[in-house]
Amino acid sequence: MAAWSTIESFRLDGQVSLVTGASRGMGKAIAEALAGAGSDLVITGRHMDTLTPVAEGIREKTGRRVVPIEMDMGVMPSIAATVDNALKEFGRLDVLVNNAAINTRMPAVEYTEEAWDAVMAANSKGAFFMAQACGKAMIERKQGKIINILSLTVAWGLPTVVAYTAAKAGLMQLTRLLAVEWGVHNIKVNGVAPGFIRTELTEPVQRDARSRWILNRTPLGRWGEPEEITGAVLFLASGASDFVTGQVLFVDGGITAGSDWRTGT
Ligand SMILES: NC(=O)c1ccc[n+]([C@@H]2O[C@H](COP(=O)([O-])OP(=O)(O)OC[C@H]3O[C@@H](n4cnc5c(N)ncnc54)[C@H](O)[C@@H]3O)[C@@H](O)[C@H]2O)c1
Repeated sequence: MAAWSTIESFRLDGQVSLVTGASRGMGKAIAEALAGAGSDLVITGRHMDTLTPVAEGIREKTGRRVVPIEMDMGVMPSIAATVDNALKEFGRLDVLVNNAAINTRMPAVEYTEEAWDAVMAANSKGAFFMAQACGKAMIERKQGKIINILSLTVAWGLPTVVAYTAAKAGLMQLTRLLAVEWGVHNIKVNGVAPGFIRTELTEPVQRDARSRWILNRTPLGRWGEPEEITGAVLFLASGASDFVTGQVLFVDGGITAGSDWRTGT
């Protein structure tokens, strides 16, 4: 057996990762990082026209095999079909990054059943059944890493993000449940909870007064960039975290550390 090398333990050569919602934002950055570490990829999104150029770009940059699959996290048969196709293509799945999510913002007193159902379907039910479908294949091989992308809303009550908050908090507890239930099969399940990251999802917030509030409360005093999530995900996807399961890693510029007072402001 080769000697343990910390830096080599971060590599994913010979592995296959599935990243949901990889057409833009953090999903795209995460997919690029995993391929950069040696993993072949299945990337999913709702529209093939936005997914195909991402797949081509990652192939060109990294030389890895990248298979794009159009699917909707809110449609259960499309989840099963995606995992079947991934297994047909590669014969194995080592890493799942449950990244795809939507958000609909409105005050709690106005929140509609339609918005609730759509957000819960994609962010909660879809994420669980994706983990289940990938988990079954991982359990057979007694190896796998599942990373659920959560949110700082698992720790903080923020106004207007009603269903999103319920879905992410539920997914955090599912992260812990699955880590406990599947530890016996050597499947590790962890969460990454981003703070405020500059993507299209947060575009409306970046433009208005809430951005000033965020900057004042984030100890690092700025928004995060999508690429800044990738180190945490790579750690949790790789052998470097082989004794880590059921945990939530916040990547948030320190905002959940507890104080709303930033030195010097
Ligand atoms: N941006 C932030 O500040 C922030 C903060 C905390 C958590 N997050 C979480 O990080 C993850 C990525 O967010 P982002 O900011 O990159 O968002 P984004 O909107 O830029 O990207 C989300 C991706 O998910 C896909 N997607 C959405 N609904 C889908 C569905 N039903 N089926 C298939 N794909 C679907 C979109 O097409 C897109 O590719 C999400 O889980 C989000 O909740 C984001």
